[in-house]
Amino acid sequence: MSVAAPTFDLVVAANRLPVERLVDAGGGGTWQRSPGGLVTALESVMRGRDAAWVGWAGEPGAAPEPFSEEGTHLHPVGLSPTDVEEYYEGFSNETLWPIYHDVIVPASFHRAWWDTYRTVNHRFAKAVAEVAAPGATVWVHDYQLQLVPAMVRAIRPDVRIGWFDHIPFPPVELFAQLPWRRALVEGLLGADLLGFQRTPDAENFLRACRRLLGMATRGETITFTPPGDDPSVQRTVRATAMPISVDFRELDELARTPEVVARAAEIRVSLGDPEVLMLGVDRLDYTKGIRHRLKAYEELLQDRAIGPPGVTLMQVALPSRERVDAYRHLREEVEGTVGRINGEFSAIGQPAVHYLHHFYPRTEMVAMFLAADVLLVTPLRDGMNLIAKEYVSCRHDLGGALVLSEFTGAWHELHQAFICNPHDIEGLKQTIMRAITAPEDERRRRMKALRKRVADHDVQRWAFRYLEALATAPARPHRPTRASDQERRGGERANRANQRASDTASERVSQ
Ligand code: G6P
Repeated sequence: MSVAAPTFDLVVAANRLPVERLVDAGGGGTWQRSPGGLVTALESVMRGRDAAWVGWAGEPGAAPEPFSEEGTHLHPVGLSPTDVEEYYEGFSNETLWPIYHDVIVPASFHRAWWDTYRTVNHRFAKAVAEVAAPGATVWVHDYQLQLVPAMVRAIRPDVRIGWFDHIPFPPVELFAQLPWRRALVEGLLGADLLGFQRTPDAENFLRACRRLLGMATRGETITFTPPGDDPSVQRTVRATAMPISVDFRELDELARTPEVVARAAEIRVSLGDPEVLMLGVDRLDYTKGIRHRLKAYEELLQDRAIGPPGVTLMQVALPSRERVDAYRHLREEVEGTVGRINGEFSAIGQPAVHYLHHFYPRTEMVAMFLAADVLLVTPLRDGMNLIAKEYVSCRHDLGGALVLSEFTGAWHELHQAFICNPHDIEGLKQTIMRAITAPEDERRRRMKALRKRVADHDVQRWAFRYLEALATAPARPHRPTRASDQERRGGERANRANQRASDTASERVSQ
């Protein structure tokens, strides 16, 4: 007799599990919490709840058995080496990632990758359906799993489904290039609530529904007849902006601990005690604008505006997607540039760039943030950029200055940063110089305002707001009747009013 698998009221599905397996020399393994925003973000909502997390354990091969970690049920999904190549590296990171990030590098389209993406999304959907309790809340994350909402709905129409997009949603002109655009939109529309980082991302999605699928949208809602359903049955889905954040309090507390404060001082000493320490921390990804940042820095060195030992740059490049060509080329280019800059501008024991291609524990990252006088965040396109928010959260001393690209989601909230356009190298150089030379009281005033914004809009607030919106999202299938037509008109009026209110709010934020 088979024993029924346990089921849960809240099920999170993301490409990666919140833990990764560390294999020791003897081939044994232990689980360790993965670094990264999503894990921290969801930890607080999952704690104390009857929750499961469905995701990939990070290594090709069969899925390990489900297990529990700190009270959360972890349900691994297996990816074969071909799945990793075609679903993860291929379709997710060589097709979708470039299209969703302004085609900074060209996207590749392969029908076999799409087939595997569909197959793997279906595997995730089945796993979710297996562990979701009757009437459960299912929260699907990011671009790797865009077909999962409709696939889960087909198997489990009783559950409430949300999806959150951690990266930008592209303008319709770019999204339209995807041969599978209709299937992707229909996959997402299986959700009750679609969350995006910025209002323009939600608007891009609504535009794709209208222009490419001819659907009706009103304010933040899309009303449509699901494919294959009775044409008189309609569903309504809400697409709205809800910018993700960081655990402000946890970072603030960590940055105040004597160990971290001492480590920050130690880092500065080991870098030769510069007057100005500039820092970059990024996944080694072409979206992050590392090349533009290095170009601006190199020119400032050439201009003799700055230079070691007084001013130095520490660049942490976190290893990422190393089997994908564009990432390999980027690494070669960045490391070549760092070598050239150091060859030309370093002195013995005084490098112009301290380049580190490693992962670091959380406390070490916090110490780096506390040590840095200027953080350079210069992406060409970024859904949010949590590094910017983490830096601000750590600066309880009101020290430090944030240089922030206007092409990040964070820019929509962090207006008191030193704002730059990374494509404008001259402008970027000037912004870096302004951040370095700004009077202390100006820097403190800016940092205080930035910290208030992040403290008031932390990750706990984001997660609770999302789940609350999901619980009340307009979702149940309905057959339009006279009465419900009237309700709909009322709803539309309310939506328009909400839209006006949220437009006004976002205008206020962007001033
Ligand atoms: C971005 C994506 C995440 C992804 C992360 C790391 O933040 O939004 O979904 O997990 O990058 O990338 P990786 O490919 O290593 O999971």
